[in-house]
Amino acid sequence: MVNVAILGFGVVGGGTARLITDNREEIERLTGDTVNIKYILDLRDFPDSPFADRIVHDFNIILEDPEVDTVIEVMGGSHPAYEFTVAALKKGKNVITSNKEVVANFGDEFLAAAAASGVSYRFEAAVGGGIPVISPIISSVRHNKITEVRGILNGTTNYILTKMFSLGESFEDSLCDAQERGYAERNPDADILGTDAARKIDILTALVTGKLVPTDKIHTEGITNIRKADVLAAEKLGMKIKLLGRCIIEGEKVFVIVAPFMLPSDSALFGVSGVYNAVEVIGEPIGSVMFYGPGAGAGPTASAVVADLTEIIASGRNYAVPTFTKDEGAASDISELVCASYIAFDGACEACVKSVFGEVTFVESEDSVAFVTAPMSEKAACEKIARLISERGATLKSRIRLV
Ligand code: NDP
Ligand code: HSE
Repeated sequence: MVNVAILGFGVVGGGTARLITDNREEIERLTGDTVNIKYILDLRDFPDSPFADRIVHDFNIILEDPEVDTVIEVMGGSHPAYEFTVAALKKGKNVITSNKEVVANFGDEFLAAAAASGVSYRFEAAVGGGIPVISPIISSVRHNKITEVRGILNGTTNYILTKMFSLGESFEDSLCDAQERGYAERNPDADILGTDAARKIDILTALVTGKLVPTDKIHTEGITNIRKADVLAAEKLGMKIKLLGRCIIEGEKVFVIVAPFMLPSDSALFGVSGVYNAVEVIGEPIGSVMFYGPGAGAGPTASAVVADLTEIIASGRNYAVPTFTKDEGAASDISELVCASYIAFDGACEACVKSVFGEVTFVESEDSVAFVTAPMSEKAACEKIARLISERGATLKSRIRLV
């Protein structure tokens, strides 16, 4: 019997406890062993829960119990998740997590501690919710010469964008709905301001480059500035606006960015709606592969957590593990990143736009002069925007990059 302890009895912790219990026979068939949830650590008691008798409030009970083989950290946040994870790994316990914040901040340390103790540190649920993406990247595609990993990495914002712009609902109602469904972070600013997606593209970047970038070094924009007029402009261009995390590898340069992008209809990510996420890996000789599925929610995320658990039990820890180290300077300055942009200005005429940006494609807009530029570097785009503002007194209403 394999004894596990779950840290955090919230959306993911509750879903994981239910899945381990409901799928007891499948797990036994797959691994040849039974799984027993020995403890659940939380701050609160849950007297009405069928797991009420497993609730503990002191992590040391779990740490000091030699019968606990695997700790499933699904509390969220950096602390005390960091301290609990390090202590568990040093005690020779496997650790599984869905907590991308702690992986993005300390994943390198945890992998080293796990290796030193001869145990596993697994985090499949930390990126893409229920989508198997970490394992396939490590084991099936990483040997390619990868030039880009990009994805819709946040279920809450994709859900909000879909509800707002396809169904006409308000931002506030759409966010509330996402919270009620258990998709959003405890502080949903992490979702809507792009921080959560930045943590996830950080982890994916570490997998493909071997270098973990400090998340605050990633250029990050959220969805709060996207206007209805921008969505209508995208539709006129046959495109959709999606919050993307992108890691673009050009020779020695690694550009990492989270921002809303306009996607053409032939993009693999174009049709990914609602809480669904997708990760596209582009490289040679594989071309493009995409991993797609539900990006948040109790059931899908629990599925990824339990996948890690069954793999640890079934494989006897003998499988591919990621390796990466922290590297402050691994992300290149995005000023050299080249892309076309959709730009909307108030108070600028078409002639003055052309005089600054050269040939552009104008897009009909009710409230601004809107256009799509030729591909140019981030630095050039910013300089031209600043010129139009300072020389013509124009006001920038939107700028959204194109994929
Ligand atoms: P919840 O807030 O629903 O659950 C967290 C639980 O952990 C709460 O019950 C909380 O208690 C408890 N907790 C917090 N701090 C401590 C502590 N110090 N000691 C003991 N218990 C503690 O979060 P989720 O389940 O939604 O998310 C958990 C993690 O999984 C996060 O990192 C999140 O980003 C990630 N994740 C979430 C997904 C989702 O769809 N929800 C999908 C993929 C990943 P209390 O409520 O009393 O504070
Ligand atoms: N808040 C996150 C999201 C949870 O919406 O994608 C899954 O990581």
